[in-house]
Amino acid sequence: MEKSGKGAVLVAGGAGYIGAHTAQALHAQGYLPVVFDNLSSGAREAVRWGPLAHGDVRDAAALADAMAKHDVQAVIHFASLIEVGRSVARPDLFWEHNVGGTATLLQAMRARGVRRLVFSSSAAVYGQGGRGPLESIAEHAAKDPASPYGDTKLACERLIAAHGRAFGLTAVALRYFNAAGADPSGLIGEAHAPETHLIPLAIAAALGDGKALTVFGDDFDTPDGTCLRDYVHVNDLAAAHVAALEAPLAEGAFEAVNIGAGRAYSVFEVIAEAARALGRPVPHAVGARREGDPPSLLADVARARAVLGWTPKVSGLDEIVRDAVRWESAPAYGRPGRKAAMAALSASA
Ligand SMILES: NC(=O)c1ccc[n+]([C@@H]2O[C@H](COP(=O)([O-])OP(=O)(O)OC[C@H]3O[C@@H](n4cnc5c(N)ncnc54)[C@H](O)[C@@H]3O)[C@@H](O)[C@H]2O)c1
Repeated sequence: MEKSGKGAVLVAGGAGYIGAHTAQALHAQGYLPVVFDNLSSGAREAVRWGPLAHGDVRDAAALADAMAKHDVQAVIHFASLIEVGRSVARPDLFWEHNVGGTATLLQAMRARGVRRLVFSSSAAVYGQGGRGPLESIAEHAAKDPASPYGDTKLACERLIAAHGRAFGLTAVALRYFNAAGADPSGLIGEAHAPETHLIPLAIAAALGDGKALTVFGDDFDTPDGTCLRDYVHVNDLAAAHVAALEAPLAEGAFEAVNIGAGRAYSVFEVIAEAARALGRPVPHAVGARREGDPPSLLADVARARAVLGWTPKVSGLDEIVRDAVRWESAPAYGRPGRKAAMAALSASA
């Protein structure tokens, strides 16, 4: 068994985008990240800072094995289906993987006496209406998810909180706003397939291996008419997980905490920043609004500071886009077709 000073942390979904960056941050802080992942959307190449236990969070026996083998002391749970659109078409799968998987994981933790959990939640748990364009969202805001994806995140939070009350589990749910950027090393980065996030799609459009970007509506009640979102650098997000793991909380406590930069940018501002960082235009066209897209999502991050002692350090839009461009120009995995697109770009330069 590999040993590490502060003990082993099971990182469920640790071969994925945010999980890999968190595994790196855990390792840097003296933990052993044990990545537990079925590699359904994650990459083996992203598992670099500890062992990989190949398994599914719906598989109680595989979880028990991994926890026993590595003497796991705590769990961070990223493993989830994440595409909002697909959740509308296949709510059954989302409830089975996300809520069923979390229930199985909680049982496995209880059986093994593992009593500390950090859970990947989302701003998707909040209601959409009744806010001004730049009004920030605090944790007590109404919960009324606009998609089955958001429903599953809220259901998981409630299940986890109930476990705390009944069995003494101490847990933090981090409600991420928009995760973006990549580690500056170039070793790990975003590689969703299909990719649905704005920053990588804007970069792909400019590099020539993506379609022209569609801007979903420019008639919202916002300064330039496009949606405002709060982008947080994935390394700031990773640091928030370590802070959540270490926060001095009472036994059985459950805390839900927003994680964002506390600043919002419009789709047009992101496009302009990407064009600036790449030195080339981002081809785009304005299309219809998508159902359920709120005009603005801005995190109130006061509670993250108070409960976790966490503040964003590298989440300026310029820093996020610069690191995303570095990764997207030479991704270490994922992004089929990118090498050919980069070669075509340099041939035409
Ligand atoms: N990316 C964002 O902006 C964002 C925003 C809010 C919340 N989140 C949440 O953060 C978490 C991580 O997101 P991400 O962007 O890194 O996604 P990702 O798809 O890159 O990572 C998810 C990882 O979980 C694994 N996985 C999925 N189902 C599994 C299962 N049943 N058993 C074992 N492993 C499984 C995948 O193989 C993958 O490695 C998710 O829970 C997501 O809902 C992400």
